[in-house]
Amino acid sequence: MEYLTGFGRPIGTCAPRAAFDTDAPRLSLNGVWRFRLAPSAAEAADGFWAPGFDDSGWSRLPVPSSWPMHGHGRPAYTNVVYPFPLDPPHVPTDNPTGDHRLVFEVPAAFEGLGARLRFDGVDSCGRVWLNGVELGVTQGSRLPAEFDVTAALRPGGTNVLAVRVHQWSAGSYLEDQDMWWLPGIFRDVTLLARPAGGVDDVFVHATFEPGGHGRLRVDGPPGATVSIPALGLAGLPAGVAHDAGPVEPWTAETPRLYELVVATATETATLRVGFRTVAITGGILTVNGRRIVLRGVNRHEFHPDLGRVVPIEVVRAELELMRRHHVNAIRTSHYPPHPAVLDLCDELGFWVLDECDYETHGFETVGWRGNPSDDPRFAEACVDRMRRMVERDKNHPSVIMWSLGNEAGVGANLGLMADWARERDPDRPLHYEGDRGCAHVDVYSRMYATHAEVDAIGRGEDHGPHLPFILCEYAHAMGNGPGGLAEYDELFDRHPRCQGGFVWEWLDHGIRRPGGDFAYGGDFGEPLHDGNFVIDGLVFPDRTPSPGLTELGAVYAPVRLAVRPGEVTVRNRYAFRSLGGAGLHWSVTVDGVPSAEGAVRLPAVAAGQTAVVALPHAPVPPGTGEAWLTVHAVAADGLEIGSGQVQLRAGPAPVAVSMPAPRREGGVIRFGAAEFEPVHGRLTRLGDLALPRGPVLDVWRAPIDNDRLGPDPVAGRWRAAGLHRMTHRLLGIDLAPDAVVVATRVAAASSDRALLTWYTWRPVDRGAELTVRVEPTGGWDVPLPRLGVRLELPPDLGDVSWFGAGPGEAYPDSRTAALIGRYRSTVDDLATPYVYPQENGNRADARWLTLTGPDGTGLRVEGAPRIDFTARRWSTPDLDAARHRADLVPGDRIHLHLDHAHHGLGSAACGPGVLPPYVLRAEPATFSVVFRALPGSRGRR
Ligand code: GAL
Repeated sequence: MEYLTGFGRPIGTCAPRAAFDTDAPRLSLNGVWRFRLAPSAAEAADGFWAPGFDDSGWSRLPVPSSWPMHGHGRPAYTNVVYPFPLDPPHVPTDNPTGDHRLVFEVPAAFEGLGARLRFDGVDSCGRVWLNGVELGVTQGSRLPAEFDVTAALRPGGTNVLAVRVHQWSAGSYLEDQDMWWLPGIFRDVTLLARPAGGVDDVFVHATFEPGGHGRLRVDGPPGATVSIPALGLAGLPAGVAHDAGPVEPWTAETPRLYELVVATATETATLRVGFRTVAITGGILTVNGRRIVLRGVNRHEFHPDLGRVVPIEVVRAELELMRRHHVNAIRTSHYPPHPAVLDLCDELGFWVLDECDYETHGFETVGWRGNPSDDPRFAEACVDRMRRMVERDKNHPSVIMWSLGNEAGVGANLGLMADWARERDPDRPLHYEGDRGCAHVDVYSRMYATHAEVDAIGRGEDHGPHLPFILCEYAHAMGNGPGGLAEYDELFDRHPRCQGGFVWEWLDHGIRRPGGDFAYGGDFGEPLHDGNFVIDGLVFPDRTPSPGLTELGAVYAPVRLAVRPGEVTVRNRYAFRSLGGAGLHWSVTVDGVPSAEGAVRLPAVAAGQTAVVALPHAPVPPGTGEAWLTVHAVAADGLEIGSGQVQLRAGPAPVAVSMPAPRREGGVIRFGAAEFEPVHGRLTRLGDLALPRGPVLDVWRAPIDNDRLGPDPVAGRWRAAGLHRMTHRLLGIDLAPDAVVVATRVAAASSDRALLTWYTWRPVDRGAELTVRVEPTGGWDVPLPRLGVRLELPPDLGDVSWFGAGPGEAYPDSRTAALIGRYRSTVDDLATPYVYPQENGNRADARWLTLTGPDGTGLRVEGAPRIDFTARRWSTPDLDAARHRADLVPGDRIHLHLDHAHHGLGSAACGPGVLPPYVLRAEPATFSVVFRALPGSRGRR
């Protein structure tokens, strides 16, 4: 088994070539195979490759598959570290080995033709036999491998394919990406007929020239002809450059594809091609001569039930979801995806940074000693990987840059990979984030640079290379967050050299468990793992959007609207598309209820241009309600491409009423509709509504991942300060003629820091206004997680309405997507089901909210003038203690938080923390809210 330690080199595979369709016979070998798993390579019994071998006792397994997802062995997750000793090229003796067998009939159409067997992905190493004949060994998990099977194949007869897959091989040292370790034949297996004199390979060079003409050269087999029927091009000789005449260019915004036919006497290949020119001009990355901005995401290939196998309809749906959120770029982190993904990128329109299947990050833990990137014995495997990616994907217009890999340190082998790619494909720039000096690459790339650093780079103060700057990873989307997206986007808008980046990352890689829960690292008993660091996406594992995606969609929106009474300034941020055909939908609302609405057509604002558009006259109806003008820009296909709003009239202030002075009566304090208990001074009743627990100051939140993780987690400082166990001591209750004033000292055990807190209650119609004054004493050097009050309500008040920001979750540094309006939801639906439970669900800037039961009775809260709120069926300590969704069990109370302020989200789990304006400092503060009991349908609302 020397091949396992052969420094990652495949054996017996054919020269790599492009993936495309031809009219030659092909046979998919996907389906149900026979499977047997052995705990080590040595314990896997030989001889199963013999055609006559009896596999009837083996399991059945779908191919493609990741076998641990089908009950064989277990998944394991590590981020940086290798799950085996750093001892290249050796691999563990305990090396799960899966033997696969398939008996299949080959149609007679294969008779007399050559044939190849293609594997699109085998993790990590596969030894292959056909009809008992050994073909060779694949390595390079996320790359194709083809074997010539002309001699071994039996056309028109029964054939037996046997594949022995080892989880670990020397190639595993080159595949230390942050993801689950999941062995298997996880991509398609196909038998391809290869006619002699056929179209083995094609390299399309289709550029868009300044005058609007396409230029076309198709490198193919000698004597082949090239046609593009839609352009009237027919029978052009291959290998020669042609003027293709006027063409519509391909861009991610206008993904115009043409069908191209390459024919020889024996085979006809059909490809979809796009004309586009990628260039770096004056330090700027351009396509077709224009600066582009990468509004991107990092995309891994993962499915919560299937592992590394992602059905193509799932891919299409997720790419469409990206498009609806204005994602225009994908980095294929950190390996080439299934080839069909790139077909979809061509079709739907994405700028793709295609990344090689190469990462050796775990060597960082030993100071990069022995890093394969600088080990000549791995040189051949490194270049082989680059070659296989470039050859496979070279015809995709969507692929605008090649990436050598991710986090593989530095070393000569990276230079060899770059040299090979540059020589083979001079038309695409090269990327590798680890090449800080940009010796081998064409763009300066960084991950998780702070806003300040990006700004400095944009201003040219970094003394770095004068190359286009991109963030190959930024805004770590782990759990609740990221915060600070809008501020990055503003820098990409401001500085020509800052050409965007790719949010880390698209998808939570959770593994589905019964009951709607998802597993992460450690849930399979892995001795070494990185917990929920694999749950860091903009969409949940089942690809439902998290609030982070909604925010990203608003930030990435191609159209910016600056709304003023009667007019809108429209800024078109597309690089290529005009706004012709799009419209503005506007509405005037009073207290969230529309009083007038309409639509106007947008002029054809050209890419990059701004126009002022007048709106029809729509006066605000007389009265006192808060009025807003809201405008949505909508593309011809109905997609919202931007929005904005302006307040036209502020709402009224709450009116205090005079009531008889507060009094003590039967052991309680009464004041208007309000009743208080005398021990803590807490509100216990409001009219008919009994409160299980009245409002009390709260500063704690269940730490989000961005609070918990990173080099200096703020949650550690919060816990040390005791913010999760604050106690409340009553200093006194003062019954003034017009107010009840409750003075308290809020502090943690063993701390001399305190928040002196005064609750001043004044009567209003059917309720009471609470003014909270907080004064920190004793020297606070930690920010507060939140500043507000919490109270508990009966469980039946589950219907929620509000007038404020919505409809989704919003926090101070993540609220671009929230618009002021009137919204309805339920307590259950307000919660965001983060895979790793943490603070969530805040609705910002409520003017008022109601929580009501089926009969309409309940509570109305008014911000005076605004308040954030969160309502859920479990307490903050419950949320803090939970580790999976299933740990959160609804209790018999609704826990309502009314917050004056929140600490921001940031993205400190991996990257910068909360930006200064969003840090919630412990400072003197005063805020007010009004509580009114709602009598339900029996009474007035
Ligand atoms: C980067 C790495 C990604 C991922 C991310 C954190 O360093 O390239 O693969 O690990 O950090 O989630």
